[in-house]
Amino acid sequence: MIDGQTKALKQVEEVNATVDFLKAKTSINPQVAIVLGSGLGNFADVLKDKFSLDYSDIPGFLECSVQGHQGQLHFGKIGNVEVVLMQGRFHFYEGYKLDQVVFPIKVFAQMGCEQLILTNAAGGIHTSYAQGQLVLIQDHINLTGQNPLVGKNIEKFGPRFPDMTYTYNPTINELFIQQAKELNIDLKTGIYAGVLGPTYETPAEVRMLKTLGADLVGMSTVPEAIIGHHMGMKVTGISCVTNMAAGISKIELKHEDIKDVANKVMADFSSLVEKTIENKFPTRHT
Ligand code: HPA
Repeated sequence: MIDGQTKALKQVEEVNATVDFLKAKTSINPQVAIVLGSGLGNFADVLKDKFSLDYSDIPGFLECSVQGHQGQLHFGKIGNVEVVLMQGRFHFYEGYKLDQVVFPIKVFAQMGCEQLILTNAAGGIHTSYAQGQLVLIQDHINLTGQNPLVGKNIEKFGPRFPDMTYTYNPTINELFIQQAKELNIDLKTGIYAGVLGPTYETPAEVRMLKTLGADLVGMSTVPEAIIGHHMGMKVTGISCVTNMAAGISKIELKHEDIKDVANKVMADFSSLVEKTIENKFPTRHT
């Protein structure tokens, strides 16, 4: 049985090995890491000077088993900003260990990424939302019953007890809000409840989530946001409301429909993320 210290050291070695592997493959030195949610994968097309790798060729990366998640890592540029982009993410409900789910985020932080943009498909709870609404995450409620920081803390990654007041960076959020105004895109704000899945919620659970103060619900993002914030990255979360959550609307939920809605808001989503990075993001601290 391996003890906590050995496990932590092994993890640092694995992260560093993947960082070295990626650095040897590309001269792109990413400042921004982006994770694309279900149906939002086509955003990868906006990258210039793109260099792509299959997850299956990257040490420590897993297979993407979810339909609508492609399983490629792309390096490239948006304007003058160098980015790394995950087309497809790993979810805890796929049966992976949480350590494995957040492994890429640790790699991005160790590569020197300063900003992390997490995107997802989510169910809308707030009644001012409708299908296709884009929502900037202001805060989350972790209802997964899990935390990726459980275990021996790796001090060089971040503190044992991280403050979570500004998990979603207010300064960066403001840049997205400004850019949305300039593009005439309706970007709302909201609180994201992170659940385990893979079942969608029952109507009773959605009523509970509403009572708890959640505006959106989804099965990703929270573990990644925790790790990104722990490791000092400025985190942003953008949800695409692909459906109103169970019971809020009487329509039964199907993953196929969810991908279709995300595809329809792609144009707004893409220009918002692309233009915010290109026009508003701070340039790298050297
Ligand atoms: N619930 C949870 N996750 C989701 C939903 C939902 O309604 N829609 C898209 N992802």
